[in-house]
Amino acid sequence: MELVTDRLRLDALQLADAPGLFSYRADPEVWRYQGWRPESLAEVERFIQHQSAITAPVAGQWFQRAIRLRADGALAGDLGFCLSGDGQAEFGINLAPSWQGRGMAREASRALLDFLFGALKVHRVHASVDPRNTSSMTLMRALRLRQEAHMLESLWFRGEWVDDVVFALLAREWRGMSAG
Ligand SMILES: CC(C)(COP(=O)(O)OP(=O)(O)OC[C@H]1O[C@@H](n2cnc3c(N)ncnc32)[C@H](O)[C@@H]1OP(=O)(O)O)[C@@H](O)C(=O)NCCC(=O)NCCS
Repeated sequence: MELVTDRLRLDALQLADAPGLFSYRADPEVWRYQGWRPESLAEVERFIQHQSAITAPVAGQWFQRAIRLRADGALAGDLGFCLSGDGQAEFGINLAPSWQGRGMAREASRALLDFLFGALKVHRVHASVDPRNTSSMTLMRALRLRQEAHMLESLWFRGEWVDDVVFALLAREWRGMSAG
């Protein structure tokens, strides 16, 4: 899977991406609300090798792609999705702090939503956000996902009970927005 937008290319992670990926994924600004916090470059290399073996999206497995600048191929972040097998998908996205605040998360996510609802014919896409993660809450609203739930202290995460906000969008809603 390779997707291209005005500024970005979403494609496979390469081993050469490991130092860049490690540098921003090990940054507290990026991992604070994320399940994965890599401890070493070797862990990131193993992650990329594991991803390289997944050549097409498979239900139950996260399918992670690089977010690169089209201009020079520089790694700006990564995004991923997990198909449920019943026509649904969860997605998530990370940008290196130096590439945040430029609308790139919206641009990459819109391309991913187009792919999920279009090529993969997914019925419903959802995302789970810690409400303290204000940039992620803003992103979901900018993408016009619907907030469907705010579950109080429903996750035990890094030693504390945290809230979980669920955002979702249906294929017909996405098509309606695209047509509008
Ligand atoms: C969540 C995350 C990906 C959002 O990234 P982001 O860069 O803030 O999001 P966007 O691409 O939507 O950029 C929006 C900002 O770019 C600005 N912007 C600049 N140029 C723009 C353009 N051409 N188009 C749109 N917005 C633009 C917007 O005004 C907005 O700024 P503001 O936040 O000051 O209002 C990022 O904060 C991140 O990686 N966080 C850590 C990982 C994480 O928690 N991920 C959540 C998993 S779901």
